[in-house]
Amino acid sequence: MKCRVLSALLLPALACAHNVQLHARQSTTADENSAALSNANTATATSVLPSTVTFPLISENPTAVPLSEINTGAAQTQSTIAISTTYAGGSKPTWIPDAPALPPSLPIPTNYPKLDVTPPTDSDEAKQWIQEVMNSGVYIPDIAPTNPGGCGNNTAVLANTSSSGTCWWTCGGCTRSTDVSVCPTKNSWGVSYDDGPSPYTPNLLQYFDQEDIRATFFAIGSRIISRPAILQDEYLTGNQIAVHTWSHPYMTTKTTEQVIVELAWTKKVIKDTLGVTPIYWRPPYGDIDDRVRAISQALNLIPILWTRISPTQTFDTNDWSIPEGSVNVYEVLDNWELIMGNSTKIDTGFIVLEHDLFEQTVDVATGYILPQALAHQPKYNMTPIIECLDMPLANAYLETNDNSSHPLPLATVTPVSSSSASGAGASSTGSSSSGDGKSGSSSSSASSSSQSSGSGSLMVVSPVLLSVAIGAAAAVATLFL
Ligand SMILES: *[C@@H]1O[C@H](CO)[C@@H](O)[C@H](O)[C@H]1NC(C)=O
Ligand SMILES: *[C@@H]1O[C@H](CO)[C@@H](O)[C@H](O)[C@H]1NC(C)=O
Ligand SMILES: *[C@@H]1O[C@H](CO)[C@@H](O)[C@H](O)[C@H]1NC(C)=O
Ligand SMILES: *[C@@H]1O[C@H](CO)[C@@H](O)[C@H](O)[C@H]1NC(C)=O
Ligand SMILES: [Zn+2]
Repeated sequence: MKCRVLSALLLPALACAHNVQLHARQSTTADENSAALSNANTATATSVLPSTVTFPLISENPTAVPLSEINTGAAQTQSTIAISTTYAGGSKPTWIPDAPALPPSLPIPTNYPKLDVTPPTDSDEAKQWIQEVMNSGVYIPDIAPTNPGGCGNNTAVLANTSSSGTCWWTCGGCTRSTDVSVCPTKNSWGVSYDDGPSPYTPNLLQYFDQEDIRATFFAIGSRIISRPAILQDEYLTGNQIAVHTWSHPYMTTKTTEQVIVELAWTKKVIKDTLGVTPIYWRPPYGDIDDRVRAISQALNLIPILWTRISPTQTFDTNDWSIPEGSVNVYEVLDNWELIMGNSTKIDTGFIVLEHDLFEQTVDVATGYILPQALAHQPKYNMTPIIECLDMPLANAYLETNDNSSHPLPLATVTPVSSSSASGAGASSTGSSSSGDGKSGSSSSSASSSSQSSGSGSLMVVSPVLLSVAIGAAAAVATLFL
């Protein structure tokens, strides 16, 4: 459980505090949190954490929680606040022209699966979604679910995670042209927060309101059931809402049917809460391979990861490790300083991993990370991810997407003849989306262009050289690290 050595932009190891992390993410109350935390503390008691930041802070929020108080297991440091507005059913969103009105009432929990576990795959809804995926014409590669325990527990598969194999992002950093992991324009930051809505999300939204910031929220289905009104507030104040699964599992470890229900139930609860269906999602832990990619495409979902600058270095603040105890706030701010430093070295904009689930992650965001970002020179253009891809918020949702300029993932599937498509399932037809290697016929993706909006990114990783090609324009940032 040596999580600490993997911090500072290094990829979070899948094995790192696996169980503790899952507990922590599912927690909804301070009590549950501290139960998960005391486990983590025991596991990492021998680590020596820094006791100060190693660089001068250029800015902080005058009402920030003092750094010394943003700790593992700290007593509550900031009171939670109510959302700015409670919205009546039928309210019209103002940020998206012609968006559907809010549904008449909030979702009723008993109409949804159990929280924080993968939903059953034999319900009527599940059967229908599984059939839809089979009829979609998307070829789902026959890749076995990975073992739990991450890269280290998948030694045989590990030799085959490059673009000619399973293209497993978590282990080696392989991406396809359909993955989004950067913003195309230098110094643009596609801001995002994961794992909410939580009791602390309104504190983040209040700071957003104060500083005129908007972001992408990757929301967990189980958390939406608990706090649908907060999701509505996120949405109606101009933030982008995207899918982050029902129960936050490592998606490559799940069967195809389980991946389908994790995504489809989350799409459904978002649609039931907001009246719109997201077309973007983020795999928890970035855990995606070609099988999971194909399933998400069949469900009309586009994956968004976060920026990676080498096979082992990503723009992860590691804020999610503060509650678990393996990292403290000083280390998170050191990570953020490195990310800002590296952000000005790459030729593109960037996407960073942060969370609105925990009090500590919200405290560090509103108190320090966002103020530092706002004061950064050159100035960052901070927007929801859809906007950093040069698209309007409307293109984040099925119902309002401009299908002519931004084809839906399913619209890019090569049609198969109707006889085979309506047969026992399309998995034998071998159809694939345009040249992203899902059919297995494209062993090098280096020449494929972004298939839809031109905003997808493509990354080819070799041990020493890393090239980032942005869509068809193929602006290349080369870093030797
Ligand atoms: C490694 O994978 C095996 C086979 O799936 C599993 O039984 C075991 O629990 C995994 N180990 C860890 C540490 O997750
Ligand atoms: C590597 O992955 C590809 C794509 O899933 C698969 O077809 C191939 O059999 C794998 N090779 C090995 C050696 O496992
Ligand atoms: C970029 O990240 C690397 C790896 O953490 C770090 O060594 C380097 O100092 C960072 N660059 C800047 C300018 O901060
Ligand atoms: C885009 O296509 C989807 C799926 O066919 C459809 O539901 C939606 O209404 C279309 N968008 C617009 C703005 O017409
Ligand atoms: Zn997450």
